[in-house]
Amino acid sequence: MRKIGVLTSGGDAPGMNAAIRAVVRYGIYHNINVVGIRNGYEGLVEGNHMEMNLSSVADIIHRGGTILGSARSKEFMEESGFQKALKNIKYLGIEGLVVIGGGGSFKGAMKLEETGVATVCIPGTIDNDLPYTKYTLGFFTALTTVLEAVEKIRDTSSSHNRSNVIEVMGRNCGDIALYAGLAGGAEMVIIPEIEYNIDEICDKIMQGRARGKRHSIIILAEGAGAAKEISEMIEKKTGIITRYSILGYTQRGGAPAAFDRLLGSQMGAYAVKLLCENKRNKAVGTDGGKIFDMDLDKAIAVEKVFDETTYELTKILSI
Ligand code: F6P
Repeated sequence: MRKIGVLTSGGDAPGMNAAIRAVVRYGIYHNINVVGIRNGYEGLVEGNHMEMNLSSVADIIHRGGTILGSARSKEFMEESGFQKALKNIKYLGIEGLVVIGGGGSFKGAMKLEETGVATVCIPGTIDNDLPYTKYTLGFFTALTTVLEAVEKIRDTSSSHNRSNVIEVMGRNCGDIALYAGLAGGAEMVIIPEIEYNIDEICDKIMQGRARGKRHSIIILAEGAGAAKEISEMIEKKTGIITRYSILGYTQRGGAPAAFDRLLGSQMGAYAVKLLCENKRNKAVGTDGGKIFDMDLDKAIAVEKVFDETTYELTKILSI
C-alpha cells in the first residue's frame, strides 16, 4: 500500500477529526501517502482533494465537525458520477480508501469495492444506527449535548410546573432518546422501536404530579413522531401546559467527548492497519471495549436487536 485516501460522508459527527488524524498519522508513520478527499463522495466525483501531511491534522483532535467537509452526494450514486469518481481514484493513485460515515456511506463504499477499489469503513454518525457495532463515532458526544439541554429544560419545567417534550435526532433509531432518557432521568422516552401509548404517558405524568413532581420530561426520537403534535396531545389530555423543544443540529456539533476521541483514534489507525495487511471490504467496529472488523456486506446486513433491558430500566427508574 503506497497511497490511501480518506473521506468523511453523510451527516458529520464529533470524533470524525480524531479519526482523520489517526488515518493520516498512522499512514505516514508506515510510509504511506495519504490524500484527503473533500466533501465526501462529492469530492471523489469532482477530484477535490488535498495531500495530507503531519501538520494538516495538527490541532484537530478536539474539534467538532470534519476538516475534510462532508456531503450527501447524489451524483456519486448515478452512473456518470460514479465513473468520474473511479477515474479520479485512478488518477490520484489511491490504492485503498477509508470511508468515515453512516449506513449510506457504507453502501457507497460497497459500490466502490465491487469495482475493485479496496475500502475500509469507520462508523461515523451520531445516530448509533449501525447495529454491527455497539457504538458509532459521535454518539456519546451527541448524548452529552442532549443531556445538557435536558438539564436546562428541566430547570424551567420545574419552575413553571410544566411538561416538556424534547425531540432528538437519530433517524429511525431510538438510541439517542433511549440512552439520554436513562442518563437524564426522563419520565418517558418515545422511540420508533416501541409503539407509544399516549394514555400511558399521560397517566405517568399525572402520577408524578400526584407525588408532587413539578416537571415531566419526555424525550422523543425524531423517528417516532412530531414534538408539536405529541405535546399538544399531552396538554389536552392532562390539562398541564406542555412545551416542546427540537434540539436539531446542536446534537451534531461541538467538541468530541473523550470516548469519541479515543474511538476515532483507535478506529482510524485500525482501518489503515487493515489496508496495510491487504484486508479490504471491511467495516471497523467496537464491542464497547475491543476494536474489531467485519466484512462490509455482513456488517451492513446485521439487524438491530432492540435493547429491551435499557428501555425497561428507564421506565422502572422513572416511576
Ligand atoms: O444521520 C445523522 C442525522 O443528523 C440524523 O439524525 C438526521 O435525521 C439527519 O442526519 C439530518 O440530515 P441532514 O443533515 O441532511 O439534514
